[in-house]
Amino acid sequence: MNSKPKPAVAADKPIGVFDSGMGGLTVLHALREHLPHEHLLYLGDNARLPYGTKAPGTITRYALQAASHLVERGIKLLVIACNTASAVAMPELSRRFAPLPVVGVVEAGAEAAVRASGSGHIAVLATESTVRGGAYERAIRTRRTDARVYSQACSLFVALAEEGWTQGPLVEAVAREYLHPMLDEKKREGLDCVVLGCTHFPLLKNTIARVAGAGVTLVDSSEIVALAVEKILQASNIKRIGGPAGVRFLATDDTERFARIGSVFLGQSIESGNVELVDL
Ligand code: DGL
Repeated sequence: MNSKPKPAVAADKPIGVFDSGMGGLTVLHALREHLPHEHLLYLGDNARLPYGTKAPGTITRYALQAASHLVERGIKLLVIACNTASAVAMPELSRRFAPLPVVGVVEAGAEAAVRASGSGHIAVLATESTVRGGAYERAIRTRRTDARVYSQACSLFVALAEEGWTQGPLVEAVAREYLHPMLDEKKREGLDCVVLGCTHFPLLKNTIARVAGAGVTLVDSSEIVALAVEKILQASNIKRIGGPAGVRFLATDDTERFARIGSVFLGQSIESGNVELVDL
């Protein structure tokens, strides 16, 4: 009897997903909803969070290390579930790991914004590095040349979300402070769409929506990412079409905390025994 393991067929390999921490679990949630038969391997680089305040060279190095780790474990597609890493390192990651398909959240977020906005006046809330590089403006204007894009760095939202503080007077005060410039009368004119340009921000969406006020649609990229992933899997004939699917978690720091707070992001309980500590 041959005891050698059979090589995993391409469709059975997991989709690799990474973020600086737990924010990308909002994207993982959408992937599970849309693609229930896909195995998923999630890496949260929580030891080095936040990425959003770091220099582009550092973000690229961290993103390459996280992605390499997933690639070495054998994945069929890579999702960069971090806007900061997508905005800064997407071209480098795509080039380095070609022909592996790589999907980033910025293009998907821009697509979602253009679909949601009637006026073309769009605000982007993101991390400092995402805003500084202007990736969202470029991605939105590529799709709609007359778009007016207002970007605001909201770095504290990341810490609040990781802390599990998603509502209440403190969170609302921080949101008012960040959103105040964009909501002043002139800038507000016609503004009808706010992009949650960081995968941590969907956790704060109720508070952000309340502060942004009526007539403003909040968009996040997770749904469109899931659709984009499905399209690539179908086109490459590597979509898994049946059978139960597994999700595994990797973290670079405190697996117990990752499981506890990560459960809030995922909207589903994560057992700390299902989180493996890794060193990049
Ligand atoms: N979740 C990351 C993003 O989408 C940001 C968090 C961080 O600053 O590390 O940009």
